Amino acid sequence: MPKITFIEPDKTITVEGKAGETLLEIAEEHHVKMGSACGGVCACSSCHCWIREGLKTLPEMEESEEDRLDMGFDVRPYSRLGCQVKVGTHDLTVEITEESITTWYNEHPDERKPAS
Ligand code: FES
Repeated sequence: MPKITFIEPDKTITVEGKAGETLLEIAEEHHVKMGSACGGVCACSSCHCWIREGLKTLPEMEESEEDRLDMGFDVRPYSRLGCQVKVGTHDLTVEITEESITTWYNEHPDERKPAS
């Protein structure tokens, strides 16, 4: 099973994924802060992430993912949408973008740390 390492600003975790699962599904299973405003149907860009390792092992983007990523912030050559990337057998390192984390906190307001 592929190992997926998720990088958040304050922590990095490595988990096992199953081939065919999306990065968003794996993130949700392991409480990783990947936003999903549209519920994973390629209708927003809140699951935007950067594939730091393993990008070349992934299938090319469909046109719908490319179009949707155009709406994202700080899009880079290694940007992908977590809900559209199905993992294969290769390990991946995935950095969660600020855009995605912000959405995740909006979806989970109880997880915000109280202001000190
Ligand atoms: S969750 Fe909306 S495009 Fe991925």
